[in-house]
Amino acid sequence: MYDVVVIGSGPAGYVAAIRASQLGLKTACVEDYINESGDMTLGGTCLNVGCIPSKALLDSSHRYSDALNHLDGHGIGIEKVDLDIPVMMQRKDDIVKKLTGGISGLFAANKVVSIHGRGKVLANSMVEITKTDGSIELVETKNIIIATGSSPIQIPSAIFDNKNIVDSTGALEFNKVPKTVGVIGAGVIGLELGSVWSRLGSKVTVIEAMDNFLPMADADIAKDSLKDFIKQGLDIKLGSKLISSNSLKNSVKISYENKEGTHEIEFDKLIVAVGRKPNVSEVFSKDSGITLDDSGFISVNDHCQTSNDNIWAIGDVVRGPMLAHKGSEEGIMVAERIAGKFAEMNYDLVPSVIYTHPEIAWVGKNEAELKELGIEYKVGKFPFSASGRALAVEQSTGFVKLISDARTDTILGAHVFGPSAAEIVQQALISMEFGASSEDLGLTIFSHPTVSEALHEAALAVNNQAIHIGNKRK
Ligand code: FAD
Ligand code: NAI
Repeated sequence: MYDVVVIGSGPAGYVAAIRASQLGLKTACVEDYINESGDMTLGGTCLNVGCIPSKALLDSSHRYSDALNHLDGHGIGIEKVDLDIPVMMQRKDDIVKKLTGGISGLFAANKVVSIHGRGKVLANSMVEITKTDGSIELVETKNIIIATGSSPIQIPSAIFDNKNIVDSTGALEFNKVPKTVGVIGAGVIGLELGSVWSRLGSKVTVIEAMDNFLPMADADIAKDSLKDFIKQGLDIKLGSKLISSNSLKNSVKISYENKEGTHEIEFDKLIVAVGRKPNVSEVFSKDSGITLDDSGFISVNDHCQTSNDNIWAIGDVVRGPMLAHKGSEEGIMVAERIAGKFAEMNYDLVPSVIYTHPEIAWVGKNEAELKELGIEYKVGKFPFSASGRALAVEQSTGFVKLISDARTDTILGAHVFGPSAAEIVQQALISMEFGASSEDLGLTIFSHPTVSEALHEAALAVNNQAIHIGNKRK
């Protein structure tokens, strides 16, 4: 009998399993993922086909685009820049292999039992595991953690054929640069993977149903980043709804409609990135006591406990942002609660990052959300064009915006569009976890020259004290 059986080994599940084992609980983790080479690998979407391979390609494509477009001013000339897509893909695959293998090593070191098969929660704390050969094993456990993750949403107007019409996984595997790429959805995946192929030479058109660009981001960042993506060559068609798509021999013809009417356009490849849905099918039996919420996620309380006290659910399969770090923190919280410890998760401070160039990142509330809540606030904004380091590294697009409470000066939100945005937001987040004010950040010494100084100056700007921009004087 186990103390804990975790179903799913993505960033939510594997972290939960390791923490549970660290706490002395006898733990197993069930995973059914088989990669392209036919190997069972741990790590879930994030390591196999999500966060990690996408960031590997974002890096490779950025280096290529830099070599082509951004070296002249440095006095560096390159006669010919070659592009070898199979080598680029192999590098990505090697990184994935190293990291997924690393999880197996961590499981062994932490004595987490790794079981290959498809897990299903039955009544009375039993887990049924269907192995690849069809055989079934029943495992008894005191607690179950469901961490089965999510999958790409498929829309009837664009059925994946894994050849010309692909999801995010397919978009990480093109074996040559398509001349033209269509992307359905200007969300996080559309922008990241659209950027990859655009930098490598594809003409990329993004079809987005909503009129607003990046509605979840700060409005100034959404406005400035849209301009920048267009400057980079992405053709972003807002307020445009896909009607149909027709996969031909080597291309896809789509029709979409917007205010101007109906349009037809043909692409070599079509990437559909319209969101992800929780993996709940065949994960639990009706008599397990588990229920779904209105959006189809597993219903849980603030501590990720389902209506059955011994069954927990974490990560993409439950409410909240579909982000690796959110799932991992839930995994730690749940493992600690099962071990009888006090553990909470601060859902107000989950950071978001879009790994484009420049990066977009934020944490806490934005101005629109604060207005909606009726909270009075102050804003400090500092442009990277006034940062010495940003100019020296030729990354002076964008700004840092820091928002604090008008009455107490407590930092309520940090929003960054620019170099190392993810890392800068992380610094603001740490200060927010400790309840810092913008004055506290303003009194903190930042190394010079760093792009992080823009956060320091934005903090000073909240109270009209920034040094390197003209402040309004009364
Ligand atoms: P998953 O990682 O989806 O893992 C669930 C695992 O459970 C899978 O391996 C699945 O095979 C397995 N499973 C499902 N059902 C069963 C069953 N019945 N039995 C056994 N095993 C089962 N997030 C970020 O924070 N940062 C990023 O940069 C980022 N980039 C992304 C890029 C892309 C292209 C994509 C698609 C996603 C990205 N994400 C990113 C989102 C991130 O991948 C997910 O939020 C994260 O993987 C969710 O973790 P999870 O553990 O809940 O689920
Ligand atoms: P998303 O929710 O970010 O964006 C989907 C977009 O598609 C939305 O803008 C939506 O309006 C649009 N859309 C929906 N239906 C449409 C239609 N029929 N026609 C045209 N547009 C349509 O979802 P995405 O990009 O698929 O990503 C899924 C999740 O993966 C994200 O929610 C995110 O949490 C996670 N992710 C995180 C990353 C990161 O942290 N850097 C990177 C990639 C994914």
